[in-house]
Amino acid sequence: MALVPLRLLLDHAAEHGYGVAAFNVNNMEQIQAIMEAADETNSPVIIQASRGARKYSQDAYLRHLMLAAAELYPHIPVTMHQDHGNSVSTCLSAIENGFTSVMMDGSLEEDGKTPADYDYNVHVTREVVRLAHPRGVSVEGELGCLGSLVTGHGEKEDGHGAEGVLSRDQLLTDPEEAEQFVRATNVDALAVAIGTSHGAYKFDRRPDGEVLAMHRIEQIHRRLPNTHLVMHGSSSVPQELQDIINQYGGKIKQTWGVPVEEIQRGIQHGVRKINVDTDNRLAMTGAIREVFAKHPEKFDPRDYLKPARDAMRKVCIDRMVAFGQAGHADKLRLSGTASRG
Ligand code: G3H
Ligand code: 13P
Ligand code: ZN
Repeated sequence: MALVPLRLLLDHAAEHGYGVAAFNVNNMEQIQAIMEAADETNSPVIIQASRGARKYSQDAYLRHLMLAAAELYPHIPVTMHQDHGNSVSTCLSAIENGFTSVMMDGSLEEDGKTPADYDYNVHVTREVVRLAHPRGVSVEGELGCLGSLVTGHGEKEDGHGAEGVLSRDQLLTDPEEAEQFVRATNVDALAVAIGTSHGAYKFDRRPDGEVLAMHRIEQIHRRLPNTHLVMHGSSSVPQELQDIINQYGGKIKQTWGVPVEEIQRGIQHGVRKINVDTDNRLAMTGAIREVFAKHPEKFDPRDYLKPARDAMRKVCIDRMVAFGQAGHADKLRLSGTASRG
């Protein structure tokens, strides 16, 4: 099956009340891990690449790896998504490179760190929709800036995020503005700001409603019942993954992520796409550290990349089952909409 647009996956997810994890990739092993997990659980999947990932892996390699995934697993509907596009031209070059979905993140200016105003966001997002939709490509927009409700900081760990201290208003998507934004842009999915941030260091304790504003999602969903909502910064940062890294010589400070149960609550209120990168990074790093610690004589990359790939596959399976996408690949395919190509 050819790669499919995001809209197709999320419409099916909404119809059947489940969420779909969007996993970030930078290399072949990560794509393999996701596809193996999707195959094992019969899950439709979203594979996404940030600007940094496209630069690291190079568009041509990435494009061919994704086509290989579609060829090897013809029964799995796969969306290839540009994560955090910073400009119209970034989104356009993604489309030219075979992406079937793009995120125009107009919550920040093109530099990826300055909070943008509403009019700028509407302008660039609408332009991407105008260019993408006639080509059958879906568009995700973002309203509100990702960042901690405690410190006011956007997490800069991954090179994309607001600089300086943000106000509570900037850190929480306004439901009324969300309604206007979707009407003005016609996006297929809307990323919302609710206190999550990228990277491992999201919360300094298990988050409650003060720092993880799940009720915002409910308010937004009430106003936009037919819009697919997206949660970014949604790694759960499991304790056991932190422990493995630290057990084998790493230095991860104690931290908390977004509990899976909170994501499941979001799914009941319109969340359809859940972005997960950090958990897979932690899993792979822990597995590699373990091989290095236990077998310092080894030097064949396969000796540590295979365990790393297996560790990521396990995280992906856990999320696919928890978010409810497991068991839906064949149903989606047979529903007729995904049978093109
Ligand atoms: O946008 C957040 C993802 O974790 C991607 O991170 O920009 O380091 O590839 P990255
Ligand atoms: P995490 O850092 O929580 O995995 O979030 C990833 C993300 O939102 C990518 O856009
Ligand atoms: Zn993100």
